[in-house]
Amino acid sequence: MTALVIDNIGLLVTNQPELGEGPLGLVRDAALVFEHGRVAAIERAGAGGDEHLDADGRCVIPGFVDSHTHLVFAGDRAAEFAARMAGAPYGAGGIRVTTEATRAASESELERTAAVRREEALHAGITELEIKSGYGLEVAAERRLCEVASRLTDEVTFLGAHAVPVEYEGRADDYVALVCGEMLAACAPHCRWIDVFCERGAFDAEQSRAVLEAGRAAGLGLRAHGNQLGPGPGVQLAVELGAASVDHCTYLDDDDIAALADAETVATFLPATDFSTRQPYPDARPLIDAGATVAIATNCNPGSSYTTSMAFCIALAVRDLRMTADEALRAATLGGALALRRDDLGRLAPGARGDAVVLDAPSHAHLVYRPGVPLVARTIVAGRA
Ligand code: NIG
Repeated sequence: MTALVIDNIGLLVTNQPELGEGPLGLVRDAALVFEHGRVAAIERAGAGGDEHLDADGRCVIPGFVDSHTHLVFAGDRAAEFAARMAGAPYGAGGIRVTTEATRAASESELERTAAVRREEALHAGITELEIKSGYGLEVAAERRLCEVASRLTDEVTFLGAHAVPVEYEGRADDYVALVCGEMLAACAPHCRWIDVFCERGAFDAEQSRAVLEAGRAAGLGLRAHGNQLGPGPGVQLAVELGAASVDHCTYLDDDDIAALADAETVATFLPATDFSTRQPYPDARPLIDAGATVAIATNCNPGSSYTTSMAFCIALAVRDLRMTADEALRAATLGGALALRRDDLGRLAPGARGDAVVLDAPSHAHLVYRPGVPLVARTIVAGRA
């Protein structure tokens, strides 16, 4: 494959401290060379190449790695959102509304709408993303969601334990048995991960443990939704079981922070969810200061966070979760890669996949400084512009 060079980069964020200044490994006046889909070299501005892209002094960052989405679904919940903005509380029950619409949709419709969202995310600078099932909640419907997701990404997560469906009302343990048995067997071949919504109103600690252990026995990696709507056991369970990531983390106590500080489990914040559900924002400071690894993800879904804008999530993380712009950028790139246990993503260093974003700005701080402005000028995936 011929080489692509992004030249005249005013500020390059590598996320590789040994390549430049500070924790983000910043390099000024650089050229970035891609070959065979990977980063081949970082050179001084002025480098030649078969294909040349002039950054014109602008900032280039690693592509965003979105480690938490529910991209495959049907239906619309704008009215629910409007009611919430008028004071109604958010509840996990809305998942059933999307489940009904998703079950009724054809596979081609699910595939078409998910592909449109994937394209939207790409234009927003997301070069890799994870996709969960979880709006089927019956064997064939969950398998269909996993299959559709697997046509868009390698990072597919089985989330049969997203909610107890109406037909299992009052029989949550029976539903958990289905998830851990027939449903898991049908979905696992299409997935890399298993996830569970560990929360009051969804699945308790015992049920969540059963789901995650069954997934592990089937060869899947572990992820969890935890501490979204209130304090709970999700974070501790995820850390205990060695999950790659525990997501939401809106309500953390001192024990949760201590557990995450010592763990390989990444704490993934989903600030657009707190925005869209009018929840209080978590404070990321104590967690980061304790040494925990953090990520930011969009949680794109029709109920609690219908956005593909990582830039918006970064702005919220700085404004409301008290991260610095550097920490938020790192969390949305390298943090996401760590949450997916991918060492080829989230960095612009020789050998990494050639995923980069040219910003229409002189620095990544503008993602926060100019909220709502579409600053993603160009997205490069695997060295292709
Ligand atoms: O991550 N927490 C559970 N699942 C989604 C919400 C899904 C919905 O409301 O449809 C979330 O916020």
